[in-house]
Amino acid sequence: MAGKLAHVTETRPATRADIPEFPATRPESCPFDPDSAFTRLRAEDPVTPVRCPAGMDAWLVSRYEDIRAVLADPRVSARAATSNHMLPDYDDADPLPGAILSHDGEEHARLRRLLIGEFTVRRMEALRPYIQRITDEHIDGMLKGADADLLTDFALPIPSLVICEMLGVPYADRDMFQHDSQVLIGFEADMATREATAQRLRDYLRELIEQRMVEPRDDLVSRLIARGNETDRPLIMEELEILALSLLVAGHETTANTIVLSMSALLANPEQLAAMRAAPETIGTAVEELLRYLSVVQFGIFRYATEDLTVGGIDVKAGEWLIAATQSGNRDEQVYPHADRLDVTRKDRTHLAFGFGAHQCIGQQLARIELQVALTALLQRVPGLRLAEPQAPSDFKHNGIVYGLRSMPVTW
Ligand code: HEM
Repeated sequence: MAGKLAHVTETRPATRADIPEFPATRPESCPFDPDSAFTRLRAEDPVTPVRCPAGMDAWLVSRYEDIRAVLADPRVSARAATSNHMLPDYDDADPLPGAILSHDGEEHARLRRLLIGEFTVRRMEALRPYIQRITDEHIDGMLKGADADLLTDFALPIPSLVICEMLGVPYADRDMFQHDSQVLIGFEADMATREATAQRLRDYLRELIEQRMVEPRDDLVSRLIARGNETDRPLIMEELEILALSLLVAGHETTANTIVLSMSALLANPEQLAAMRAAPETIGTAVEELLRYLSVVQFGIFRYATEDLTVGGIDVKAGEWLIAATQSGNRDEQVYPHADRLDVTRKDRTHLAFGFGAHQCIGQQLARIELQVALTALLQRVPGLRLAEPQAPSDFKHNGIVYGLRSMPVTW
């Protein structure tokens, strides 16, 4: 496929004069609900053209079943990666080698095959004691004082340390990793800053990979190199760098923000908090519901039709863009009765918070364990946890690819 898509702003929906903006405003009444336009769209206009902040027009797909169909369709490409429809300075280009989120077909399958062995249930469960230890250490640290920022003192360090542990990144470098991955994923920095930050992280990872090539250890990077070398197309340095970077970026803010938003939503729904505390053994069910309810990949999943296809009865032409609005699918009343209600006893593992289809989150089992351990520890060890001050709309990161909080001052 050509590097640049000349028709970026010339897709068929643009022939309509009245194309609305992509709905990205949360209702004032509840910071956890997606744009209220989705309720009407699901009922009346489930596949509809919208204008994206990145400049192109796209088909917005808002019903659960249609979203799954789009994300599972091999005629639909992930080349533009998950949320690039929201980046005003997005410049469509061919995916970089190793950028697992943006490759399709056999190239994607090759990368995923090499990585998947690192995310088996067995390997993830083996990390549980480490996750428990760092969680407890951070709670001990918090409890030494009278208040804390739950985001920076607890939620961000945990996934960051876990990824560092998996990759074999020394503990001493974690502050740099945390800072840089936030710059990469946030919308606050301009494209030039994000690119410079990505380059700095890549340079760091390159050194780490070079070390592991000479002296393998028992870590993900060493095993990835070895696994690639067993195939007829070993991973090249650029692929290894970008794969490692992808893990860092994909697994850090997503998990951290799900932790703080979960606590925020539970404090806003005290009966749900009480239900969780009364039945700690149901933490797995509660975490699935929180993932569904919060849908932190808040702007859905951006895709590109490589062939003509039909979605929800609408003809989509090759060369047109699609947004699988997972944040809307997770609130589809046809699938989830009282979908806007947080109900930690709801039994469901089919939500779309981890996406669906070939690119469905490879780290989901790890994320589940981190969330289960972190939330259980907070509920049990900090029973008086409460907001230090009421949350304002500006505390919520409305403009991040990943929804979350800028900070969460708490006391107990
Ligand atoms: C609550 C936490 C998380 C959420 C909500 C989440 C969400 C997602 C979503 C929606 C996708 C699909 C994107 C698409 O189709 O374009 C995805 C893919 C991915 N996630 Fe996660 N994720 C989480 C945690 C993690 C963790 C902990 C890791 C690893 C350390 C991780 C690594 C990845 C990778 C590598 C992909 C790309 C898979 C592929 O393209 O085949 N994620 N994630």
